[in-house]
Amino acid sequence: MSTFSKANFKTLNYKSFRPHYPPSFYKLLFNYVTKGDLTKLPIDKAIDLGCGTGVATYPLLNSSEHVIGLDLSPKMIQTADSLISERMEQLGISDQSRITFKTGAVEDFVYQEPREIPNESVNLITAAQCIHWFRDYNAFFKNSAQLLKKGGTLAYWFYVDPVIVDFRGPYKGDKAHVLSRTWQLYNKYIYEDANFVGPHWEQPGRTIIKNFTVEVNKHIPSELYDNVVINTFLPNSTDNKTPSEKDLNLSKLDITLEDYLNYLRTYSGYHNFQDATGDKVNVFELLLKDFETELGFDRNTTKVDLVWRTGYTFITKK
Ligand SMILES: C[S@@+](CC[C@H](N)C(=O)[O-])C[C@H]1O[C@@H](n2cnc3c(N)ncnc32)[C@H](O)[C@@H]1O
Repeated sequence: MSTFSKANFKTLNYKSFRPHYPPSFYKLLFNYVTKGDLTKLPIDKAIDLGCGTGVATYPLLNSSEHVIGLDLSPKMIQTADSLISERMEQLGISDQSRITFKTGAVEDFVYQEPREIPNESVNLITAAQCIHWFRDYNAFFKNSAQLLKKGGTLAYWFYVDPVIVDFRGPYKGDKAHVLSRTWQLYNKYIYEDANFVGPHWEQPGRTIIKNFTVEVNKHIPSELYDNVVINTFLPNSTDNKTPSEKDLNLSKLDITLEDYLNYLRTYSGYHNFQDATGDKVNVFELLLKDFETELGFDRNTTKVDLVWRTGYTFITKK
């Protein structure tokens, strides 16, 4: 997956417009890691694979003495490194040597021997919003198990396809119909209509995440891992489903249509679409126009509530 490594990829936009994982999720994760005994914290070592700008990496410092973030993209790692002082200050941590970011592919760092990190030395391996890009899941699970201590945790999670579950402002017709049309229009521009972003997703990664990483979970080897916990939270535009405390709850409430579009602009598929078409078609202006003419939204005043489809898998090395 190379889109995030391209020189023109806007890593700071990525950091600003992507959702951040809430403290409630880290609580779930570390409850799992310690089997409910939080007095065992901090753990010694966590590795965050596909760490990007460090969105999921920094919060691990609250519960792990040492944290390593690894990413294929030098640009992402540059941004993650540039944030060290600011983020450590926010976390109230003075010892910057507790976190290290490295550029590299998971396939080299985890799969290939000899490894930089000794076998059976890691308490927790995380992969946030990136496992769908990795290759060879059999090798991934086998090699991660070699790095993990007995009883260590492998955790991966994702978010995909945010749903507009409510809105405020003008609209035409029946509200439930308007909500379900926002979802249909999103799907038209992002997946279904071959003139827009759909054909530009790198595959099979996008399909794997769109299908909630079922394809990855299938490869978990029962001889190496147990205590498998798989969770998904799948809201849609018409059911007003609320997340439970076991769900990865990612939402942005009361945001402008422009901020909704700013999130869509961070899609790697959109980035590939722009590269391929030379930016001639302003896909999100078309989506916005459909929202205005068909649904009666107003780009200046409409506010929407966005909730992501999410899921996670936690497994324990035997
Ligand atoms: C969508 S971003 C997620 C970043 C971060 N984990 C988060 O939760 O926001 C996916 C990241 O995975 C990285 N990535 C994809 N394939 C990779 C691989 N094979 N090895 C290392 N990093 C990879 C990309 O460079 C990108 O920064």
